[in-house]
Parts: sequence; structure tokens; C-alpha cells
Amino acid sequence: MSLPSQVRLIEVGPRDGLQNEAQPISVADKVQLVDALSNAGLGYIEVGSFVSPKWVPQMAGSAEVFAQIQRKPGVTYGALAPNLRGFEDALAAGVKEVAVFAAASEAFSQRNINCSISESLARFAPIMEAAKQRGVTVRGYVSCVLGCPYEGTVAPEQVAMVARELYAMGCYEVSLGDTIGTGTAGATRRLFEVVSAHVPPGKLAGHFHDTYGQAMTNIYASLLEGIAVFDSSIAGLGGCPYAKGASGNVATEDVVYLLNGLGIETGIDLDALIAAGLQISAVLGRPTGSRVAKARSAQ
Ligand code: HMG
Ligand code: MG
Repeated sequence: MSLPSQVRLIEVGPRDGLQNEAQPISVADKVQLVDALSNAGLGYIEVGSFVSPKWVPQMAGSAEVFAQIQRKPGVTYGALAPNLRGFEDALAAGVKEVAVFAAASEAFSQRNINCSISESLARFAPIMEAAKQRGVTVRGYVSCVLGCPYEGTVAPEQVAMVARELYAMGCYEVSLGDTIGTGTAGATRRLFEVVSAHVPPGKLAGHFHDTYGQAMTNIYASLLEGIAVFDSSIAGLGGCPYAKGASGNVATEDVVYLLNGLGIETGIDLDALIAAGLQISAVLGRPTGSRVAKARSAQ
């Protein structure tokens, strides 16, 4: 199969990346990161979450971040909303696109959002309705698509069931999350084969955490299945507070390098991206998780 000629990258660093940080990060630093990412040419940035601050304290300042970023025309600035309360708070902060998040495993659903999979889908229904009325677009996530920290193996058919529900209720795109990064290329291809029978591949995205070092390979495997949207995190930041040991998403810099090498268009300035990643890594006081940024800064 031929590879897609264009790929859309969803930058999740300010949300998925920073949500897991225990140390305080100022609103100013978050704003600087988001602006640096839009200036590097990213067309979609997930800026924060409107979730309970008791569950994810780091995302508590998301409204302030939204108030201070410089919105570039043509860039989508998204946020997570787990329930109607989060949706309303997001709207009040000027958010025009939200993401709802479900899981393919019951145990993870309970740990992450304190309800069953079917309860979560029922909770999203009023969000979808309100979003339609208010002209807000909604993206959907399914977590634990290639393994669950509590239940182990997850069947692709179970992922397909949840993805199909999200798509049917109006999510324009469903991102399949390998939350704990245990997936391998064969499992990834099989996953997209199965899910594509229920949701068109053009409406699916891949979200690979790099815990086992498989994320880049899994992206390539996904490209072979016709998937052309990937979530990635600047400097490889992050993890999920409810998936212990999960490391960050694949680093955006590394994905851009891969895509450049394949001649696939992204519209992203790799040097500016590397600079943004080094800047936030300096704020966090640790080396970048991007192999490309490490290599380039050693030159
Ligand atoms: P709950 O405790 O069942 O909710 O949590 P509740 O409705 O009983 O409310 C409890 C308290 O939270 C109340 O406050 C509510 O007002 C408040 P209190 O009366 O105790 O003071 N509350 C809220 N506050 C602010 N914003 C809200 C909100 N809703 C209720 N939206 C809930 C249920 C869903 C709220 C909670 O479990 C939660 O916030 N979970 C979020 C977990 C999360 O953000 N996880 C990380 C993101 S998902 C992820 O990383 C995976 C992904 O990257 C893909 C992948 O890698 O697989 C997307
Ligand atoms: Mg994630």
C-alpha cells in the first residue's frame, strides 16, 4: 500500500505532556510553549484539560492558558472535556474544539474517569448535543487500545466497538491511544485493520506512547494501513497519571524527521520545533526526550 502524501500532526504536549508533571509549571511557561508550537507550524495544539483539579492538578490553569495564548489563524487549539461541566468551562475559556475520552478497558475507564465505558459514552451524549448547538467540534479518544495497565490484553474488536460509538455520536475523528506503549507493529496493523471496518480509516488517528520504544515503528505500521493523523508530544513529554509507568507520547520532532524522510508533507519547521522542545525541557529541568533534538543539539 502507498503511504499518505500528507500527514496531520496533533500536538498533545501541553496537555498529555504536562498533565503528568508533579512540579508546578507557570501559566507563562505553558503559554510560551503553546505559542512556540504554533510558530513552528503545527496546525493543532491540545492546550489543556477541563477536568477535575483533584484528579489532575496540573491542568487546573487551563482557562488562563487559553486566555493568554496568541491564537494564530488556521490553528486549532483543543482541550479535553470529560463531562458537561468541563465542556461548559472550556467554552467559557473560548475553546472551539474539545476532545472526549473513553477507554477500551473497563478497569482503566474506572481509574481514569470514575465510571464504566457505557456510563462514559452516556456522559458524552449531552456534550455532543451541546457542541452541535454551539458550533464546537469534538474529537474522540479511546485509551488502552493495545493493552491496559490493569487488564492486560485488549481485543481489537473491543476497541472497534468503542471507536464506532464515538464516531456514531458525532466525533469527527477518533484517536486510538496506546496509553502504556506496549503495542508492536503487527498488533498495530491488526488493530487498524479491525477498527477500519467500523470507522473509516480517514477518520482515525494514532496516539502512541513510547514506553517500550515502539512508537515510531507503530506510526510507520499505521501509515501502511492508510492512517494519516498522529498525536505526538513535543520533547516526548508526558504520560497518563492513571497509567503508572507510562512514558510520554512519541516526540513530535522525531515524527517530523520520519515524515520528512518519507517525503510526506507536514508544513512544520523542524528547527523551530526543536527549539520549542529544548525550551520546555529547560523549564522542566531535564533533557529532551526527542532523539532528533538530542542529536541536533550535540552537533
Ligand atoms: P468524579 O469524582 O466521579 O466526578 O470524577 P463528580 O461528578 O462526582 O465530581 C467530583 C468533584 O469534581 C466535584 O467537586 C465536581 O464539581 C468536580 P467537589 O464537589 O468535590 O468540590 N468536577 C469538576 N471540576 C472541574 N472540571 C470538571 C469537573 N467535573 C467534576 N470537568 C471526572 C469524574 C471525570 C470529573 C474525573 O474522573 C476527572 O476529572 N478525570 C480526568 C482524568 C484525566 O484527565 N486523565 C488524563 C487524561 S486522559 C489521557 O491522558 C489518555 C489520552 O492521552 C489517550 C491515551 O493516551 O490513551 C487522552
Ligand atoms: Mg495519552
